[in-house]
Amino acid sequence: MTTVSIIHFSGSGHTTKLAEAVHQGAASIEGVQAHLISLSGDDIIKGRYKNDAVLAQLDASDAIIFGSPTYMGGPAAQFKAFADATAERWFRGGWRDKLAAGFTVSGGPSGDKLSTLQYFITLAMQHGMIWVGFPENPYNDKGINRLSSYSGVMGQAGQEPTDVAPNAADKLTGELLGQRVARLAAKFRG
Ligand SMILES: Cc1cc2nc3c(=O)[nH]c(=O)nc-3n(C[C@H](O)[C@H](O)[C@H](O)COP(=O)(O)O)c2cc1C
Repeated sequence: MTTVSIIHFSGSGHTTKLAEAVHQGAASIEGVQAHLISLSGDDIIKGRYKNDAVLAQLDASDAIIFGSPTYMGGPAAQFKAFADATAERWFRGGWRDKLAAGFTVSGGPSGDKLSTLQYFITLAMQHGMIWVGFPENPYNDKGINRLSSYSGVMGQAGQEPTDVAPNAADKLTGELLGQRVARLAAKFRG
């Protein structure tokens, strides 16, 4: 069985909506088990993230999809605390050759979301993971990849309620990312 984990932080729920769509997409691929994991600030003590069960779940995954809102032009501090806690895996090459991908949500159409995705890519490269981009053409009538991001998926949400934003097009875009990663992970596993 191929395992895909979606690990994300969300301060006020918008990124969770996109994470759920990514999870739905990944889970729809035959032979793939998809896990949706939320990062909790309660697991950060004196600035250090600690949750061995979450890290073990990621160790057991063929692909890891990172998600965070863009806060002040980068991933949320809670996501960074989690990323720092993966250093021991980096040391022993524990996540080498896993697939990786990412998504982010922010208020502006740009809002510097690309910086967050680029941070995810750097994290994946440090771990020796294989980055899966998102090549969907934005010229379609469903709004798929309407924000034209090829490094990962971008969703837009500000102060709106979470049942309104991110919108249906962004969630469909997330679903397609989940499908793509799951399909590739299954293929890669062989
Ligand atoms: C501390 C903070 C920093 C933010 N920084 C940005 C930013 O740099 N760019 C942007 O477009 N929106 C920014 N926003 C808006 C959030 O990205 C947006 O509200 C997003 O939907 C929050 O996702 P969440 O509900 O998953 O926490 C910021 C919001 C907060 C609370």
